[in-house]
Amino acid sequence: MASLLVMLLPHLMILLIMIQIPPYLSSNDDNYTSCADTRYDCGKINNIGFPFWGGNRPKQCGHPLLQLNCDPDHAFATYITIKNMTYRVLEAYSENQTMKIARVDYFEGLCPSKPVNTSLDFELFDYGPGNKNLTLFYHCSLNNGLPNSIPGFLNCFSNRTSNEYFYARPEALGAPPSSVVCTTSVFIPLLLQLDVEVELTWNNIEGAIQNGFLVKWIGSVTECFKCMNSGGACGYDWNSKQATCYCKDESNYSNLGDGLIKTCDSSATSPPHQDDHVLPNSGMLYT
Ligand SMILES: *[C@@H]1O[C@H](CO)[C@@H](O)[C@H](O)[C@H]1NC(C)=O
Ligand SMILES: *[C@@H]1O[C@H](CO)[C@@H](O)[C@H](O)[C@H]1NC(C)=O
Ligand SMILES: *[C@@H]1O[C@H](CO)[C@@H](O)[C@H](O)[C@H]1NC(C)=O
Ligand SMILES: *[C@@H]1O[C@H](CO)[C@@H](O)[C@H](O)[C@H]1NC(C)=O
Ligand SMILES: *[C@@H]1O[C@H](CO)[C@@H](O)[C@H](O)[C@H]1NC(C)=O
Ligand SMILES: *[C@@H]1O[C@H](CO)[C@@H](O)[C@H](O)[C@H]1NC(C)=O
Repeated sequence: MASLLVMLLPHLMILLIMIQIPPYLSSNDDNYTSCADTRYDCGKINNIGFPFWGGNRPKQCGHPLLQLNCDPDHAFATYITIKNMTYRVLEAYSENQTMKIARVDYFEGLCPSKPVNTSLDFELFDYGPGNKNLTLFYHCSLNNGLPNSIPGFLNCFSNRTSNEYFYARPEALGAPPSSVVCTTSVFIPLLLQLDVEVELTWNNIEGAIQNGFLVKWIGSVTECFKCMNSGGACGYDWNSKQATCYCKDESNYSNLGDGLIKTCDSSATSPPHQDDHVLPNSGMLYT
């Protein structure tokens, strides 16, 4: 039975391909199909569509700066780069445009060779709700007392093999004591709250940073709903640097007033069917 299926499979595939590709195939149909029918799926990050691309979603389906990278060699982890900093994507939910991300430079200890501030691209992201700021001070010394007597004043290595110290200060605890002297500082948003001094152990701080913080992605979401409701697929025109709407039939669409995106005139290619985008292949019955 199974081998019969294997023998038939190539024929079935050809049949499917013949049914799916209409004779007037144009590059826009390509764009429509590749964006309407694909989602980013990798490990725990699933069902992510516009405005992202990456994985099996081609680049014309998302914003140039919103690429998701899947790493099959590291337990199918997902990464995104924002303002030259790479983050591990721990969770992502299209329904509320929320992502939990963690800085990769803190997956190798708490004293990166070049500490930098967290910096979002505010054209594309906002901070999500519930983040708390942690400030990490570097190249620190004490002008009195012992390192152990100041919570959050820690050796750069958990095994205390160096004489490099850093100082972790959650925003909630207020200004640092004057006995701590450091030359640089960076801030890191955290979702987990570290606001009791006894919690400031090396492992707790590392765990809280690796647990990440929330961001919300913004932009073109309303236009995208209009596009999808007209039977189109949202994408991004890399030449004009604007969100766009790919239609099944390029010959009939209308521009929305703001000129940012067009909607497809679904009446020309398929019957009024608000849920075309949910059932990606339902439209083919009518082509
Ligand atoms: C981006 O990061 C790379 C390597 O981490 C660095 O060489 C480069 O100078 C950085 N670019 C900017 C604009 O910060
Ligand atoms: C977003 O949606 C996910 C899944 O429904 C939920 O677990 C999460 O709490 C939501 N986050 C926010 C900030 O609304
Ligand atoms: C964290 O600090 C940065 C820089 O000072 C600030 O822009 C940001 O709003 C702060 N975030 C929170 C949640 O307080
Ligand atoms: C101390 O820990 C660091 C990583 O935290 C590691 O690179 C180093 O080899 C360790 N040193 C010793 C002597 O165990
Ligand atoms: C990080 O941002 C803080 C507050 O804006 C600033 O004081 C600090 O110098 C910045 N650190 C680095 C390494 O740029
Ligand atoms: C596009 O659709 C509109 C409304 O259904 C129709 O009036 C117009 O003739 C169509 N244009 C083309 C080129 O099919």
